[in-house]
Amino acid sequence: MFERELAATAAAMVAPGKGILAIDESSGTIKKRFDLIGVESTVETRRAYRDLLISGDGLAQFISGMILYDETIKQATKAGTPFPDAMKKAGILAGIKVDTGAKALAGAAGEQVTEGLDGLRERLAEYKKLGATFAKWRAVITIGTDMPSQYCIEANVHALARYAALCQEAGIVPIVEPEVLMDGSHTLERCFEVTEKTQHALFDELHRQRVRFEHLVLKPSMVISGKDCPQQASVQQVADATVQCLKRTVPAAVPGIVFLSGGQSDELATAHLNTMNAGKAALPWPLSFSYGRALQAPALKAWKGQPGSVPAAQKALYHRAKMNSAACFGRYKAEMEKDALAA
Ligand code: 13P
Repeated sequence: MFERELAATAAAMVAPGKGILAIDESSGTIKKRFDLIGVESTVETRRAYRDLLISGDGLAQFISGMILYDETIKQATKAGTPFPDAMKKAGILAGIKVDTGAKALAGAAGEQVTEGLDGLRERLAEYKKLGATFAKWRAVITIGTDMPSQYCIEANVHALARYAALCQEAGIVPIVEPEVLMDGSHTLERCFEVTEKTQHALFDELHRQRVRFEHLVLKPSMVISGKDCPQQASVQQVADATVQCLKRTVPAAVPGIVFLSGGQSDELATAHLNTMNAGKAALPWPLSFSYGRALQAPALKAWKGQPGSVPAAQKALYHRAKMNSAACFGRYKAEMEKDALAA
């Protein structure tokens, strides 16, 4: 069932030069983002902010889809058009975050497991009616002393596979997101080891649970030094390690890979993606982006909750989307940032 629909959606999500904009922050997370710019988080301020991101002119050249939150998919533009309809009109796919967040994993101090499987079949049917064509589930893996445990990896990939199977049953493309956190002082090598182990376990479990690799999109973290590691790996080292890790773990049948930004600065996230794509070796899958913070940060700063700043915020988002689109082709250069400022 849905074979053709799933294949078409997955192909559109990772079309050449296009990536995904994640605007699926939970109410708790968006409040933290709004606190930074001194904006109160209310149903209306959240709607207005998502409206400006969704309604920006010309974004569909660079953005294939946007991931919405439960509240957002039921909201509408200022003119009253439901967000999924406005996106469809603009040529942008609507996605939906369906996990209900990472919670403490019993018996494993400091580790987390993502929840949200209860009632998921029914919720997917509802989201599909609202216009969603793809979904997202984020698992969180923490690096630390004796962490991650095998137990934590297994619990998380099991849930990811159950989610992915339910999505495919519903005709919705699952984005499977095993995020290895940047928090900590670990080295690039340690991040490689944990990411490799996690991704192996993930594809093993997806296979066991009869998930079709052709009809999913992987959203991994990059292989990168921990935030507090004194020895920060170079852009080239991050790009090389990430590509090597993906080659070892991700089946060629997967239609595309879109990275999360995970707390990297916006320009660094673009530079890393660009360097991976500028590499000479042909890869079995397109490498693109599904950034939240690294796409939104300049727009959020420009907006500051002021209706008069909406055009400036939209321009900032357009610029970052354009830079990341260039990075999908390996054509991004740091000078392009300055050109935009001068424009
Ligand atoms: P960041 O790019 O801010 O990590 O967000 C992407 C995302 O969707 C995390 O689930």
